[in-house]
Amino acid sequence: MRTIETSAPGKLMLFGDHAVVHDYPCIVTAIDQRMTVRITQVDNQEFNVSAPDVDLAEYTKPLTELGERDIPKAVRFLETAYRIFLERYPQENGIKVQTKSEFSSSFGFGSSSAVTAAFVWALTENYEIPLSYKELFDICYKTVLEVQGVGSGFDIASAIWGGTIYYVKPASVVEALSAEHLPLIVGYTGIKADTATLVKMVNEEKRNNPRKIDSIFREIGSITILARQAIQANDWIRVGILMDQSQELLAQLSVSSVELDNLILAARKADAYGAKLSGAGGGDCMIAVASKENAAEVKAAIQAAGGEVMEVLAHASGVRIESAE
Ligand code: PMV
Repeated sequence: MRTIETSAPGKLMLFGDHAVVHDYPCIVTAIDQRMTVRITQVDNQEFNVSAPDVDLAEYTKPLTELGERDIPKAVRFLETAYRIFLERYPQENGIKVQTKSEFSSSFGFGSSSAVTAAFVWALTENYEIPLSYKELFDICYKTVLEVQGVGSGFDIASAIWGGTIYYVKPASVVEALSAEHLPLIVGYTGIKADTATLVKMVNEEKRNNPRKIDSIFREIGSITILARQAIQANDWIRVGILMDQSQELLAQLSVSSVELDNLILAARKADAYGAKLSGAGGGDCMIAVASKENAAEVKAAIQAAGGEVMEVLAHASGVRIESAE
């Protein structure tokens, strides 16, 4: 029996948070912490998963019942993706799946998107169905929308294409940016944010106050376009200034939090070029850019303010096959 192992990276949103849901661009970088998926084809017609990192010892379901009954949270993305895949590419035999994570699902690094991308990529290799990245994206994005209801798909795109990309939903624009040397510092607030709740909250605010919220989105969009130029030019001072401006707008959307504000302020006081929240807000991580000489001081300041410094490298590679034997 063949065993395929694939992996996909986690991500951090650099610019365009929330506005990307409303058709503005964003910039996202893949990080060097990955989700790994190992699948083995089996002789029966069952879907079998073990995911010890999310406390799932073992889960089995007949292929004919995929998507039925209550699906445990830990397998919701996998089972939905598998059902969508089999609807498009029917197969006789089931599979056994094992997942492994290099990072906790609490950080907001996009573990669900990364595991979905790695899993579907493994399926295409296992069943020998060559898919383009765009076709892979479509299956994964459909999965996310079914499970989560909302989302721009930026995290799926980052897991697939990797590097640092300028993205417009639904992968209508995916442009690779050269950000190998992005001097990124990441601080975790210790608080798990719920992306779907925050996105729905902003949607509600947009319904109540369309003029104000549309104008914030427009400004976030303009900053993202400027940030794309600054990143291409490796102008990290300018990137920092644009991060500060983004943070101001995200605070106006009411998605920042006391903990995020404290870490962001601490980074700025320690002379980071700039800092902002990353992603939906409400918790998870903040990001900063700082000179090499100043990085240690900025990290110490984030720690002193109660944050946990996450040692991650930006611009990691996208989904890939680790082994096939
Ligand atoms: O909270 P995260 O890291 O999953 O990022 C969410 C980013 C949003 O723009 C708020 C939502 C989205 O899907 O783009």
